[in-house]
Amino acid sequence: MVSMPIVLRGPWTREARERAASVEAREAFIRYFHKMMKERNWLPWDDLPLDEMRAFGDRLSDDTVKLIEAFYGLESQVANYVADGLDMLHKIRERRNLHLSWGLEELKHSETFELVLAHSGRRTREELESFRAAAMERRWRMRDEDPDLDNPLGFICYGLLQERATFYNYDELRKRIRREYGLPTEPGEEERERGVEIGAAGALGRVANDERAHYDIFLELVQIYLRYLPQETLDTLQRVFDNFRTPALRLLPDPAQLTEALERTMLYTPLKYVRNVRNVVLDALGFESTRAFDCAVRAAKQLSASLDPGTFRIARNGQIIPLTDSEGVGK
Ligand SMILES: [Fe+2]
Ligand SMILES: [Fe+2]
Repeated sequence: MVSMPIVLRGPWTREARERAASVEAREAFIRYFHKMMKERNWLPWDDLPLDEMRAFGDRLSDDTVKLIEAFYGLESQVANYVADGLDMLHKIRERRNLHLSWGLEELKHSETFELVLAHSGRRTREELESFRAAAMERRWRMRDEDPDLDNPLGFICYGLLQERATFYNYDELRKRIRREYGLPTEPGEEERERGVEIGAAGALGRVANDERAHYDIFLELVQIYLRYLPQETLDTLQRVFDNFRTPALRLLPDPAQLTEALERTMLYTPLKYVRNVRNVVLDALGFESTRAFDCAVRAAKQLSASLDPGTFRIARNGQIIPLTDSEGVGK
């Protein structure tokens, strides 16, 4: 008689948690990469309505042009964002490959904004070149934003809010451009059929769509880590929520230009941040309010030893609820 080995259910080791999260994160990366290559495969030089930008360029207000230029400056820092992350992620395959492909998509954005400014006839090649050179004087590093976020988990939690804020800003700018063109804020049937909005709004629409995809992949990763490393992930998210600032004004050659344009246009205000960035992210993570989120952070600290993957769920009010066997324990 050969008896079956006895399997004792014990707490998950740190290594087992990281390994399981890594398998799921790799699957998420592959889905992201697939969509990026097959669906979001547009090229700035071929797939934007440059002639329409030329035709309507003089309708854009100076503030709108300044906003596009500021976002051009932030997007031009792409090599810094990528280099900083790669230093840390190069041994974590799924995260390194996601970071590389994310950077590939981001590089299209500065190219796009440059085309918008040039083809709208609002900046000369020389002006763009000197602006870009001035923007390169500064270097972005996560440790300068917050040394406690300078780790693989910090990167995705920060990225989650950053990408949502970026999507929101670009989508608002897209609507503003349409209003200045004298059009309704949402595209008509003809624009929908051809797959790109008119002129500069088409450029902002394409870039915003990428930013939404970046937000989605960071959300998926944060949700994975919430399951496997709940306490650590909640603590990191809280740190991001407490300290988040955007856009990274100090990276720009003339930060006051963006601050003033944002104030005059009300494109992005503290209230809009709370409503359209912070609360949206909280809701997507499954929390009904900031108070509920804080409650989950506190509960996770108390329960940390018993929070094994699959043995709990976090309710919308922040309570951590143990699951019975039939609800998923051991699955
Ligand atoms: Fe971008
Ligand atoms: Fe992005």
